[in-house]
Formats: sequence, structure tokens, C-alpha cells
Amino acid sequence: MKKMKGIILSGGTATRLFPLTHTTSKQLLPVYDKQMIFYPLNTLVRAGIKDILIIVAPREAGQYLNLLGPIFDRHDVRLEFKVQSAPRGLAEAFILGENFIDNDNVTMILGDNIFEDDLSSSIKNFRFGGEVFAKAVPDPERFGIVEFDAKGKAISIEEKPKKPKSNYCVTGAYIYDNRVVKIAKNLKPSARGEIEITSVNQKYLEMGELKVNILKGDWLDAGTFDALLEASRIVKEKNISKNFDPKIEKAIAEFNEEMKDFSKKMLIKSK
Ligand code: DAU
Repeated sequence: MKKMKGIILSGGTATRLFPLTHTTSKQLLPVYDKQMIFYPLNTLVRAGIKDILIIVAPREAGQYLNLLGPIFDRHDVRLEFKVQSAPRGLAEAFILGENFIDNDNVTMILGDNIFEDDLSSSIKNFRFGGEVFAKAVPDPERFGIVEFDAKGKAISIEEKPKKPKSNYCVTGAYIYDNRVVKIAKNLKPSARGEIEITSVNQKYLEMGELKVNILKGDWLDAGTFDALLEASRIVKEKNISKNFDPKIEKAIAEFNEEMKDFSKKMLIKSK
């Protein structure tokens, strides 16, 4: 049976969050009491994924290594890192990740997406095709939008439509079989110059192999100041950051201890 691997796409320039993102990556900004990236990481780890590729922008690669580099080795989660030299589109994750994915299946999640729902059963039970998660939003022009027929079957997906056919957004977690690498490699850039994840979903939809789940809980894409504030509020209110997988909890606690020790030593040295 094929393994399920994980990719967190955590690059981009995040100009909407300037000046905060002038000094660090959006996905390393705090959401309540944890760096944003720990939320998507938790979604993958709690689903039993043990091999995870983190794709980052060149400028912040060192910060990711500092935070995440060594902390999971002891907890049976292997992290790999890859630099995306420029934000050429979400589907590039599968091209940059080709060797990492190898012959396996893959769940890709955006580094700024926070899910209240536990996606574990979809990830664990996945066999073939594509599987995505939709959520009703008030501003569908900003997202990939899925249209359903009267029986609730997905019939179309459009990226940032001017006239949205529904208000169901395709959120930033995607489960695909190994064919996704080939599909991504054959994509042409869209009018905005990106290779779109929506084109990947359209392909699976055309093949009749795209499953669209509807999310029950909150979903957040923390890409603006207001969304970032709202993310911290919801995460605190719904105890999302208190219900992490024990592996992540332990790794973060150990990291904090090591950092405290390190700071103490530096303090002693400087006296
Ligand atoms: O959040 C869900 C939405 O994400 C989907 O509904 C859309 O279909 C999908 O295209 C995407 O839309 P966005 O406009 O939110 O994508 P954005 O360009 O903001 O990128 C999402 C995240 O991925 C962001 O944190 C930066 C990162 N990124 C983006 C691109 C284009 C990369 O790491 N590399 C890239 O090449």
C-alpha cells in the first residue's frame, strides 16, 4: 500500500501583512500561543503522517530551520525542507516535491490555514483520486469556489470567480494520489501567472475522481491583519492550540526548555 506523505506550502511574500512580514515569514507569526505553522503541522501529524516536506521562501529558510529543524527527530516525524525561489503557484508544491513524494500519495496544506475539523479520517482512509474540503464563506470572489448540483455533487471549480456560482470555498488542504505530480507538471500558468491548485482540482473533477467534503468547524486563512486577529481569538476560544497531537506538544516543550537553557547560559557568560 502507498504511504501518505505531507507537504506544507509556507512560502510567498505576504505583502498584505507588511510590515510584520518584512522581518519574518507570515507562517511564523504568532496565532495565540504558537507560531502559525504549528497548526497545519498538527493537522498532518495527528493524521499519522510521518514524512513532511516544508516548502519555504529563500529569505526565511534559516528561521524555519531554527524553529523546526531538529525538534521532531526524537518524535518519529521526519521533516524535510525545500526552498521555492519565487511564488509560482500552489501547484508548484508537487513539482518541487516530486522526489520527496516518490511513488506515494500526498496531503498538501497551506502554511496559513487553520482547521478546527480533524481531517485525520479522510487522510487515513484515502485510496485514490483527489479529496478537498469546502467551507461557506462571505467573500467567495477571493477563493477557489466549488459549485454543486441539486444532489450535492461537485460540478465545477473556479479560481477567484467574478460571479461565484456558490459561496463554498475550496480550503487549503488537498489530498491527492501520486498522479498529482504529472498533472502539476503539465499545467500552464493562469492569467495571473501562477500554476493553480484549482486547475489540479478541475483535472480530478473532469476524471470524476474528486471528492469534496464539507467542513463543520471553523476554518481560517490567516492572511490579513483582521484574519490574523480572528485566528488567535478562535484558536483560544475553541481550545484548538490546547488539543495538539502529543508528539507536537512534546517537541515544542523540549524546544522551549532548550531555548531557556540556552538563554540562561548566554546570561551567565555575559556577566
Ligand atoms: O486559502 C484557500 C485558497 O488558497 C483557495 O481557495 C484558492 O483556491 C487558492 O488559490 C489559494 O488562494 P489564495 O489567494 O489564498 O492563495 P495565496 O496566493 O494567498 O497563497 C496561499 C498561501 O500559499 C500563502 O500563505 C502563500 C503560499 N504560497 C503561495 C504561492 C502562490 C507559496 O508558498 N507559494 C506560492 O507559489
